[in-house]
Amino acid sequence: MAPALVALMVVIGWAAAAAPVLAAAAAASLDTTPVTFPAGFMPLFGGDNLVQSPDGRSVRLKLDAHTGSGFVSKSAYHHGFFSASIKLPDDHTAGVVVAFYLSNADVFPHNHDEVDFELLGNRRGHEWRVQTNLYGNGSTSRGREERYLLPFDPTLRPHAYAVAWTPTAIIFYVDGAPIREVVRVPPMGADFPAKPMSVYATIWDGSAWATEGGRYKVDYAFAPFAADFSSLVLSGCPAGSGDAHCEVTLMTAGCAVMTPAKRAAMQRFRRRFLLYSVCHDRYRYNGTIFPECDADADGRDAFHRWGESKIVSPTRRGYRQRQQRADKAVAAVAADGRPSTWPVGGALRAD
Ligand SMILES: *[C@@H]1O[C@H](CO)[C@@H](O)[C@H](O)[C@H]1NC(C)=O
Ligand SMILES: *[C@@H]1O[C@H](CO)[C@@H](O)[C@H](O)[C@H]1NC(C)=O
Repeated sequence: MAPALVALMVVIGWAAAAAPVLAAAAAASLDTTPVTFPAGFMPLFGGDNLVQSPDGRSVRLKLDAHTGSGFVSKSAYHHGFFSASIKLPDDHTAGVVVAFYLSNADVFPHNHDEVDFELLGNRRGHEWRVQTNLYGNGSTSRGREERYLLPFDPTLRPHAYAVAWTPTAIIFYVDGAPIREVVRVPPMGADFPAKPMSVYATIWDGSAWATEGGRYKVDYAFAPFAADFSSLVLSGCPAGSGDAHCEVTLMTAGCAVMTPAKRAAMQRFRRRFLLYSVCHDRYRYNGTIFPECDADADGRDAFHRWGESKIVSPTRRGYRQRQQRADKAVAAVAADGRPSTWPVGGALRAD
């Protein structure tokens, strides 16, 4: 018998013996296997501007002069881990917004909850930005925005944007590395999202605000703008099920637990890429800083009074340098929230 075949049989034999053990372990860990589009989602708007791949594993959302497009999860969830790999349109994308978010505005129009990833297009040769935000029970007059640059060119290949939402915290991830943690503290009250939400993805015209406060609008000479979504993960606890086991599994999963290593990775990301944080903005809310803010964590001196970083700023050359470092780092994408290696070294400013 060929040695390779013997080796294969040994492996199969081991797998058979180990299967019950693995099954027991799997029962206690969060299943982050991607779902197909038809299994987990349905179209929301945009008609033919939403295009599913034949195998249902990816979906393209387009924006043209007539309409944007979007989809929504078939179910609502009360906490969970949600992820999408997104490849963004390149070239001139000023005013274009691609969003991946949780919301229940359809059920609670006057006191909705929301957790957002908003990817903001830009002029040709200028970087996309990422914005995160959250609202709880209609707290729309208290936006909690942060904006970041990315350590890679998000138009070259898909990158994973994910949210872990538990009863005690919300953690935002990019390619498995945490970029923001909002810990629920009692003074937040109902501002912390607490009602079941559905998962949404959309592309739309954000000319009024998306690029430099609305200075650069969508130019439909460059349409259609297409964003590709894949590796859609819906690891949520079904709304209304009262499934305590699901909640325990979620809260003990890697994506919901901030280890010292993950916190260090998050600080590294924030030092390099955080452009604006509401936690450093002493202007917008008349000096009121939200109770969950740990204002010193990122170094207050590094921010202007209006919350913008004094240190992180986009430059075309810096973009290329970061791109090269990112390509070298070949960051491992870990959907379970393990930190990947961010590119290190070098100054952000290329001046
Ligand atoms: C949420 O908002 C609704 C409507 O404004 C209000 O009746 C309710 O008390 C709020 N919930 C909490 C927990 O504050
Ligand atoms: C901030 O203070 C000014 C002047 O006192 C007031 O007009 C404004 O409404 C305040 N804004 C907020 C968000 O509290």
